[in-house]
Amino acid sequence: MKDIRIESDKGFFGQFGGRYSAEILRPVLLELEEAFCKYIKDKNFLNEFNDTLKNFVGRPTPLLFAENATRELGGANIYLKLEGLANTGAHKINNAIGQALLAKKMGKTRIIAETGAGQHGLATACACARLGLECEVFMGEVDIARQRPNVFWMELFGAKVTPVTSGTKTLKDAVNAALREWSERKMDTHYLLGSALGPYPFPDMVREFQSVIGRETREQFNEQKGGLPEVLIACVGGGSNSIGFFSEFLNENSVRMIGAEAGGKGDKPGENASRIAGPGTLGIVQGYKSLFLQDDEGQLLPTHSISAGLDYAGIGPQLAYLAQIGRVEFTSEKDSEVIEAFKFFAKTEGIIAALESSHALSSCIKIAKKIGKGKNIIVNISGRGDKDIFITASAMNDNKWFQFLKDEVKRHEQKNK
Ligand SMILES: Cc1ncc(COP(=O)(O)O)c(C=O)c1O
Repeated sequence: MKDIRIESDKGFFGQFGGRYSAEILRPVLLELEEAFCKYIKDKNFLNEFNDTLKNFVGRPTPLLFAENATRELGGANIYLKLEGLANTGAHKINNAIGQALLAKKMGKTRIIAETGAGQHGLATACACARLGLECEVFMGEVDIARQRPNVFWMELFGAKVTPVTSGTKTLKDAVNAALREWSERKMDTHYLLGSALGPYPFPDMVREFQSVIGRETREQFNEQKGGLPEVLIACVGGGSNSIGFFSEFLNENSVRMIGAEAGGKGDKPGENASRIAGPGTLGIVQGYKSLFLQDDEGQLLPTHSISAGLDYAGIGPQLAYLAQIGRVEFTSEKDSEVIEAFKFFAKTEGIIAALESSHALSSCIKIAKKIGKGKNIIVNISGRGDKDIFITASAMNDNKWFQFLKDEVKRHEQKNK
């Protein structure tokens, strides 16, 4: 009997998970399951994966003792796992490399992906450039507008970025577009899904490729401090950085785990993306059963977050299960708290955290004070915040930044006259 806290039982974590896909995708999902189950135990494949993580991605990423922040907050010791220092600036690259290598083993020559914040699209485009695969990324028009820098880099890597104009023109619509494309072109194409959700085997596969975060963290903490931390905190969009970070510790009952969701602007529907800390209800969407922000008819509700990577209406099935059994707790962090946490860690530690990761930092500030001195918290900094400068500068009302943008536009226009 499998321990479904750690891995699924044929795709199910209790009532969550499954493979509720369109009939047309069944053969390709079965093919993927077979390849994943084979190669995840294959020594040569794992050597190639680990080699690429070391030499191309830049692993291991550091575990930093945030001593200034610890002193200023006057509570628990705070450690930061710096995934933002990985190539392309976020944890997404771990999964992108894993799946791209697997796709090659399966004889696929083309990769498609969805992206919200652009970090997963960027990581996928990067992996494809490195491994010589054709790449097409589906991205909502709204996300393209607010994450232009990542679109620029994706195209530089040779990827085709296809705007999605249906629905709310954000991540959920990009997932639908990618699934549609996959069902129309399966032979040469692998759909490289970016979070620990979707139909089986994606939730297990993405967790396995991201579990390097937790393994490294455990080893580094044991080396630096000895033993186990008391608390782990990660932000939760679909759930890939958090489950990759938590998975190594799930059997350690003394380790408390906290997932920080997007509290957005307020508690009303459409103002946030808190599914577990908020009113998520059971549903089947995009091939898996989990908790979703949805109306009475099962239509996904609009969401909001200051961070483009946390505004998804669903959550990975393993996390939904871990919440149900009380193994992982969830908090909801407001946009305004997130900006304050972002500024505090920039000032005290010289870290530019992604706005997504700053949700975990916001939760950390509250918990460090509560649990007190002598205890240890590790926060996963899932990405770096350079990509967010347009949003962050606007939230901080930095008028000098706006003047700079205006001057840049003028310079560009004059040059092209
Ligand atoms: C930096 C960063 N962190 C976190 C997330 C959320 O995704 P997940 O919950 O799958 O880690 C994203 C999504 O784009 C991201 O870019």
